[in-house]
Amino acid sequence: MNYTQLAEEAIKAKAKAHPPYSHFHVGAALLTYDDKVYLGANIENSSYSLTICAERTAIFNAYLEGERKFKAIAIASDAPDFCPPCGACRQVISDLCGNVDVVMVNQKKETKILKLSELLPFAFGDKDLM
Ligand code: THU
Repeated sequence: MNYTQLAEEAIKAKAKAHPPYSHFHVGAALLTYDDKVYLGANIENSSYSLTICAERTAIFNAYLEGERKFKAIAIASDAPDFCPPCGACRQVISDLCGNVDVVMVNQKKETKILKLSELLPFAFGDKDLM
């Protein structure tokens, strides 16, 4: 699967979002090295801070299926600009997916690709635990 196709998967996942408070739909598609794709979407809660982002639902879905090695994660929203992962998701991507390609998708279906290490330099990780 190429990154244009992965971007399409993230756009499809966006339709599954549940954002009754922000009305901001986000979809994510996580690609494994053997070409499997795990989808995620944001799911909000009336206790706002309990909301979970699209990226994390995709990652947790993949982990539940036993996946551990990832190549890329695509993120799509309805905003005109590229949707970057929030700070919390950057940490989770770093810890659970490693230095993957982050494929951000804008309204025109254009993509901007950055390595996770560019989005989260000098990341905290298991190496830092005593
Ligand atoms: N959101 C995501 O799903 N991913 C991000 O990386 C940015 C933010 C969601 C959380 C919340 O449901 C909505 O977008 C507005 O912040």
